[in-house]
Amino acid sequence: MYRTNTCGELRLANAGQVVTLAGWVQRTRKMGGMTFVDLRDRYGITQLVFDDSRDASLTDRANHLGREFCIQASGTVCERQSKNPNMPTGDIEILADSLNVLSESLTPPFTVDDNTDGGDELRMKYRYLDLRRPIVRANLELRHRMTILIRNFLDARQFIEVETPILVGSTPEGARDFVVPSRMNPGQFYALPQSPQTLKQLLMVSGFDRYFQIAKCFRDEDLRADRQPEFTQIDCEMSFVEQDDVLDIFEDLARYLFKEVRNVDLPAKLRRMTWHEAMKLYGSDKPDLRFGMTFVELMDTLKLGKFAVFDSAAYIGGIRVEGCAGYSRKQLDALTEFVKSQQVGAKGLVYVKYNEDGTVKSSVDKFYSADDLQALKLKMGAADGDLVLILSGDNANKTRVQLSQLRLKLGDELGLRDPDRFECLWIVDFPLFEWSDEEQRLMAVHHPFTLPNPDDIPLLDEHPEQVRAVAYDFVCNGIEVGGGSLRIHDGKLQEKMFKILGFTPERAQAQFGFLINAFKYGAPPHAGLAFGLDRFVAIMAGLDSIRDCIAFPKNNSGRDVMLDAPGYLEPGQLEELNLKVTLDEKQ
Ligand code: AMO
Repeated sequence: MYRTNTCGELRLANAGQVVTLAGWVQRTRKMGGMTFVDLRDRYGITQLVFDDSRDASLTDRANHLGREFCIQASGTVCERQSKNPNMPTGDIEILADSLNVLSESLTPPFTVDDNTDGGDELRMKYRYLDLRRPIVRANLELRHRMTILIRNFLDARQFIEVETPILVGSTPEGARDFVVPSRMNPGQFYALPQSPQTLKQLLMVSGFDRYFQIAKCFRDEDLRADRQPEFTQIDCEMSFVEQDDVLDIFEDLARYLFKEVRNVDLPAKLRRMTWHEAMKLYGSDKPDLRFGMTFVELMDTLKLGKFAVFDSAAYIGGIRVEGCAGYSRKQLDALTEFVKSQQVGAKGLVYVKYNEDGTVKSSVDKFYSADDLQALKLKMGAADGDLVLILSGDNANKTRVQLSQLRLKLGDELGLRDPDRFECLWIVDFPLFEWSDEEQRLMAVHHPFTLPNPDDIPLLDEHPEQVRAVAYDFVCNGIEVGGGSLRIHDGKLQEKMFKILGFTPERAQAQFGFLINAFKYGAPPHAGLAFGLDRFVAIMAGLDSIRDCIAFPKNNSGRDVMLDAPGYLEPGQLEELNLKVTLDEKQ
């Protein structure tokens, strides 16, 4: 038997027992004739003690143990002289009488501890060592626990988990596909699924009624803290439901997870905000509701023929930063730099300080009278002591997005984005289409299978950009955690959608023929949603990046630095696949 116990379970009640433990050497300390070894496994740390006066050669061997050696040791559980109240096993130690080195270790490239000296890239290269750190392991344990809770929740509500294929066909909507060449079908490629969207809809046509899958998805898009090229969805679909049915059940799932994992009670009914309202008040379709600073439109207040920048603007919006009239020149300059940075792209920032003593100081004093600035104060709902920040621009939505970035920055700076508070809401009534400058055509905001709002169907031909979708996103603390929609189940309407999206009937048939045909065989009304599992876990764990809750993540260039992937293929492999790489390797 390799071990009788784990390194996390022995207590004072076990004193006197003879035990065998196995694990990794966290550290060794020599104090006089005693050598102490902290032995670590997944369950915790237990102190081993080797006593020179009992067995000098054994103690000498213990002195030669290096960090991260994998060892086995036996001995008797004893009460400690100096107890460590910070460790669950801190009341005991094992007086060792045998030691077996199972496997030696090179000196690890960074400290394998919660506080580590290893940088990001180094930790990713040696991810197997990084995963030994309790703090990292805890994230994966949480992820495991959440998937169990999710499976149980959905199973209890008649959802059936069905696996859908990973090698599928390429679909051009959405992000770029990752593709896989087929040896047996020369010149042809599979694509990895961006989501199981069409397949889960087919399962509804098959009568499965309620489906779910903890599904791997793949998207070749630019990476950010909350985006990985491969990620996991809690993917769900239901038949014979309306929007309220879907929102209710997944709101319940979220409520259940928050309660079980964080002991947080979400409100009995989550707030629902229209996309339009979210953009107007927060400049974002994923507003962070942990703090205020909602936008106030100032066109009427400031477009007075006095200040050319505002006079020519299509949008002027302000936020009230409570109690910050005391901001220094330096602080305001830093905020101005921020909004003018490439990341934000605004032309400049206007400030108005309503000082505690009733005086007003602004960057537009030259242009506006004291009365104008008092009218602004009223419009903003500002009080003495508040700072008002204003952005303007010639594209309303673009300017709102810039103001939103400023709002979030201030939220961060002022400590208003507390990771232990959770503000969840639904964003509903998304537009069905958005214009793509790149493609010079309308694109589906969600995907081409989303049901247009029945009230807006008459607008489809003339004003498609005004049509609302029956689509919804689940947002928590400024992060889009999930999204879904009611689907089109009428073949004719689906064909119309493809047409508006610029598909010829032939192309629609070639790419989505399987779905169009399936809809000819009694498709039920259906709807669904997918949560991003990685994002959900990251929020629960208070992580800044989803990387920290993925066992083997990619870096920002989409590389797995440990596996050194992606990599080049051998010429023979390329030949077998009928592939020719035209890029010079040294480029
Ligand atoms: P959507 O594209 O909104 O919807 O994706 C659903 C959720 O998946 C997560 N997500 C990601 N997480 C990490 N890295 C990424 N690159 C990434 N992309 C998306 C987000 C997002 O909310 N088939 C539809 C769902 C449906 O309509 O049922 C879909 O995929 O948390």
